[in-house]
Amino acid sequence: MTLNCQDVITYIKEFTLEGENINLFEDASSTEVEYVEINKMKIPRFVNEFWTSKQRQASSLHEVSYRACFKPQLPRFFINLLTKKGDKVYDPFSGRGTTVIEAGILGRNIVSNDINPLSQILTMPRFFVPNIKAVIERLDQIPYIKSARADLDLSMFYHPETEAEIVSLKNYLKQKSLKKQQDPLDSWIKMVATNRLTGHSPGFFSVYTLPPNQAVTPDRQIKINTDRNQKPEYRDTKKLIIKKSKSLIRKLKKTEIKNLYNAGKSGLYLTKDARNTSEIPDESICLTVTSPPFLDVVQYDKDNWLRCWFNGIDADEIASKITMSKTIEEWSAVMQEVFYELYRVTKSGGWLAFEVGEVKGGKLKLDEYVVPLGIRAGFIVLES
Ligand SMILES: C[S@@+](CC[C@H](N)C(=O)[O-])C[C@H]1O[C@@H](n2cnc3c(N)ncnc32)[C@H](O)[C@@H]1O
Repeated sequence: MTLNCQDVITYIKEFTLEGENINLFEDASSTEVEYVEINKMKIPRFVNEFWTSKQRQASSLHEVSYRACFKPQLPRFFINLLTKKGDKVYDPFSGRGTTVIEAGILGRNIVSNDINPLSQILTMPRFFVPNIKAVIERLDQIPYIKSARADLDLSMFYHPETEAEIVSLKNYLKQKSLKKQQDPLDSWIKMVATNRLTGHSPGFFSVYTLPPNQAVTPDRQIKINTDRNQKPEYRDTKKLIIKKSKSLIRKLKKTEIKNLYNAGKSGLYLTKDARNTSEIPDESICLTVTSPPFLDVVQYDKDNWLRCWFNGIDADEIASKITMSKTIEEWSAVMQEVFYELYRVTKSGGWLAFEVGEVKGGKLKLDEYVVPLGIRAGFIVLES
């Protein structure tokens, strides 16, 4: 059955949290409709807790940190409502891959794109869920060189033995990749290690620092160490990789693992500017669920410098490509081109869910800028 706009509006208006077995305030359980005037059009704004995390627990497989990621419940809402098994779901600003991983779990096909190559490193391996015994065996085979040191000073983050383990793993992965021998097990280990590099608990390779999606500069870390009177202690990187691997897959059902595998095999993974994705055929996407960079709010390159180092990625080069608009005019011009591209790849009758927020201390509501861009590109906005 194909849903039309009216079906979707009815669903959204009648949506309640009843039956979800949660205790929310009464006024949060039915949809409120407000109207916003945009370009002389009366656009409805539906207000409700459509994707509260209280409704349904997200899969453990999403527990990979990334700056400005959204909750898996958000893409899940749209994927369940607007697509069926086998439909193609796309995210042009994929980040840690929340949309496509959720789509894979739900048996949809996927296309993932992000200009930052870290996105693919964090996303693709999770479609190919490994056997933990195989991860342990592979980790045991990786040559460990006690004297290995990084090509930059990382002593403020790591104990020398931890650093030797990280550098040994980095070199092993680089060699495998150069020889084109990197297999799904290597990619899984790379994804987990990238995620464990720094963080705020003993579950990470580093001494206490900011949460894992925001690597601080070496100078800042020296200050954190002085203020907290701390010194990096040894961390067993192998044990931590195994522990995180187990944790990531702990809630997955067999059917979900199979769905993920199928989606992963047929999936398309791009590292392109979202404005120019010629690899995606015209009219091939049923649903896009995405969240673009919000002006210059998040510095994806600076937050990820250590992850880039580990993966041999040039963070400055990424910085020059990532959309970092200073003004709303600049941002709108880039997003207009993104919308044209999204319109090209979307099937007739397909859908686009474009998540934006408020910036500049609430002065700019990006949704009010996004609607005209979408309409100009050819999309129809839900009307009530
Ligand atoms: C808000 S984050 C998306 C987070 C994602 N929804 C998640 O859950 O992880 C925006 C992403 O857009 C990427 N990006 C920035 N400029 C881009 C561009 N011009 N084309 C494609 N991706 C871009 C950034 O690398 C970042 O990963």
